[in-house]
Amino acid sequence: MTAAAAMMLAACCNKQETATVDPADVVMQNILSRKSVRSYTGDTIPAAVMENLLKAAMAAPSGRDLRPWQMVVMTDKSLYETVFEGNFNMQKFMESGAVVILCADTTFTAPTREDPDGPAVTQVNHLWRDDMGAATENLLLAVEAYGLGACWTACYPYPDRMDPIKKALQLPPTVVPYAVVPIGYPATENQPKDKWDPSRVHYNRW
Ligand SMILES: Cc1cc2nc3c(=O)[nH]c(=O)nc-3n(C[C@H](O)[C@H](O)[C@H](O)COP(=O)(O)O)c2cc1C
Repeated sequence: MTAAAAMMLAACCNKQETATVDPADVVMQNILSRKSVRSYTGDTIPAAVMENLLKAAMAAPSGRDLRPWQMVVMTDKSLYETVFEGNFNMQKFMESGAVVILCADTTFTAPTREDPDGPAVTQVNHLWRDDMGAATENLLLAVEAYGLGACWTACYPYPDRMDPIKKALQLPPTVVPYAVVPIGYPATENQPKDKWDPSRVHYNRW
């Protein structure tokens, strides 16, 4: 059973039947069935679904709970040639139902740790990349749960991918486009890779 099917089952069954679905199985199935999907039907994604995908992204952990994310949802394909100028992944964007640009505000404003009672000052968030990776993976897992497909495409740290986005969307100077994720209804059959490798696990010593 796919994670999407298990979730639908949990949603439509009565309480007694729902109890037979082990939440751990649903979550493990979701994580292990996630895969990059690179071809889509072009159908639009319902607004309510998109909101839940973004909710999942924003549920990610973040250092000091600073939540640096800012999400730009692109659906107007007439803008893509400008926003994603020269991007190798253009065909995926064009075929998708929506493209989410996960951006990060790399600064935050708060009193310093040295002087918690002092004035708010703007500081660099050294962990924004980590936070954004977590948010991106959360988004991909939610996409999988809805039976949709997506592909994480690199943006940061490549200037040739970031600059057209920054310019076209007029991002504030402290905001970095981190990842670009086309999302859509899969146009192809896609299988997850089995990446489990026990030799990568080290118990108590290398
Ligand atoms: C940081 C990062 C950048 C990536 N950039 C691209 C990209 O630009 N284009 C692309 O087609 N896939 C991209 N991918 C997807 C990887 O190729 C993919 O995750 C990998 O081959 C493993 O396959 P899977 O996602 O199906 O497990 C990227 C993935 C990550 C995590």
